[in-house]
Amino acid sequence: MTRKDSSVEVIPTGAALGADVAGFDINNFSEEEFADIHQAWLDHLILRIRGQDIDDHAHREFAKRFGPLELSPKTKFTGKPWLPDFPEMSQITNKKVNGEPVGTLGNKDAYWHTDMSYIETPPKASLLHAFEVPPTGGDTHFLNMYEALDQLPKHLRAAIEGESIKHQQVYSSDGSVRRGMEKPESEDPRDWPGAVHPIIRTHPETKRQALFLGRRVKGYIMGMPLDESEALLDELWDFATGNPAWTWSQQWQVGDLIMWDNRCAMHARDGFDDNHIRLMHRTVLLGDKPF
Ligand code: OGA
Ligand code: MN
Repeated sequence: MTRKDSSVEVIPTGAALGADVAGFDINNFSEEEFADIHQAWLDHLILRIRGQDIDDHAHREFAKRFGPLELSPKTKFTGKPWLPDFPEMSQITNKKVNGEPVGTLGNKDAYWHTDMSYIETPPKASLLHAFEVPPTGGDTHFLNMYEALDQLPKHLRAAIEGESIKHQQVYSSDGSVRRGMEKPESEDPRDWPGAVHPIIRTHPETKRQALFLGRRVKGYIMGMPLDESEALLDELWDFATGNPAWTWSQQWQVGDLIMWDNRCAMHARDGFDDNHIRLMHRTVLLGDKPF
């Protein structure tokens, strides 16, 4: 609902999640307008701000209104943040300078995931701002995990009630080994490091329950025999990711800023032709311990 002293207009995508924000100036907005944006984000899980004059400063100031930011991981190439003037920002790109990557994630597919669910307090949100996009490919897909839980068959719901997943910390979304990590010798996910979180989590702001799966690779349902954990995870993942009705896909335009709620939405990305550059800046908001 729009208040008298706010000109914010929220235009839902019509899919299970996502909304465009209009009537909003990212460089100059009121408390009331921010309150409308915040509520729209909780209601729609993903917000898109399109066609505005957004630079790194505006991006960071906007992100900070929602809470404190994570520092960007240092790059394994230089040992410094990707963007020294904006240490909270990561560069997500396939671009190389003198043969060295100047950002993460390259040009490959990134399978469905939640950002950094392998830490004790996974981020509550991530924001991605596009500077360069390829002519085709590189779409980002979002999945509503409230819906996936609400529509879970009874036997699956009963099987996960009260259970927790260990979220492995070794591999990142593009399948590479994270900086500072080594691939464990054992293939058994019980031997892999990572945080343990409830499979059904309660969103701390909306109080709604959502399915919280993290990443499929080397996930483990605590306390179960390995074959049972594998079978149940496969069934859960197939169910959650198997229904396009719960998803919405973003086809990027230069200047788009997308913010997703990492507590109740997963995301995935299509690969693209490495002869084209895709370059985005990302900020990540600190989150709480899932419950
Ligand atoms: C991320 C991510 C998707 C994309 O930055 O966490 O998954 O579209 N990015 O680049
Ligand atoms: Mn991600």
